[in-house]
Amino acid sequence: MHITTDIVTARDILRHWRQQGEAIAFVPTMGNLHAGHMALVDRARRHGRRVVVSIFVNPLQFSQGEDFASYPRTLADDQSGLSHNSVDLLFAPTAGEMYPGGHELATQVTVPGLSDILCGAFRPGHFTGVATVVCKLFNIIQPQIALFGEKDYQQLVVIRRMVQDLAMPVEIIGAPTVREPDGLAMSSRNGYLSIEERRLAPHIYQYLLDARAAILAKSSDYAAISQEKMANLRAKGFNPDYFEIRRSADLGLAAPADKELIVLIAARLGRTRLIDNLKVSLGKEPAFT
Ligand code: PAF
Repeated sequence: MHITTDIVTARDILRHWRQQGEAIAFVPTMGNLHAGHMALVDRARRHGRRVVVSIFVNPLQFSQGEDFASYPRTLADDQSGLSHNSVDLLFAPTAGEMYPGGHELATQVTVPGLSDILCGAFRPGHFTGVATVVCKLFNIIQPQIALFGEKDYQQLVVIRRMVQDLAMPVEIIGAPTVREPDGLAMSSRNGYLSIEERRLAPHIYQYLLDARAAILAKSSDYAAISQEKMANLRAKGFNPDYFEIRRSADLGLAAPADKELIVLIAARLGRTRLIDNLKVSLGKEPAFT
């Protein structure tokens, strides 16, 4: 596995592969890799001859008071995990390499509307930080394919919109969330949870399953389902930001006629902010004969 922290070296390696006609599949990450990331790497291998992973804890996507300083940085372990998974190139730039003039003054990419709802309403500037760094990483790596986990579903929708709006020649692939045996979605932030919080955390998935069951049982009062689940979360000691039922394609407000839905949740447990989601397909009504 090649490892580099600088853009020029990454480009030299990538140019060589591109000249050989090799397709490049790219998995951008912030490191502290877990089985969810490794599933993206495995999927990338199926899509590309060469697999590139980036590790960069992007300061631009953290707001004041968030966990940028304490975000887990485990480069040595990540590096060995990736080399065992036959990754071809690890690009792990410094902040100075990515934002030579400082991230505050860097040119930014904003996806309006989508970036301001759900998590965006609670983390102002977050999705602009994500879109900006992913755009820059795409310009450096120039992959044919890029893979993102569906746990960060809003991020995936924002990136798809950016790629479409800016005509970027990259195919975006979303991969299913990988869960712990008790249902908790894998996340680098799970490591912040105390033993007691870790015991409570799987309720998030349980409430998503409950909401899906209610929707499939033809309950279309989505506001009532959401309110009930917000109350359930508070009763268990969570501090929920939102529990919402939306259209899965564009995260617009779901109406009873919509068939492809997604239930999304963000809730704090102590100092840890957890997010998760579950798709619900109401399918087609049976045709009358
Ligand atoms: O999902 C993440 O880890 C990050 O938001 C990403 C896409 C690597 C951008 O920094």
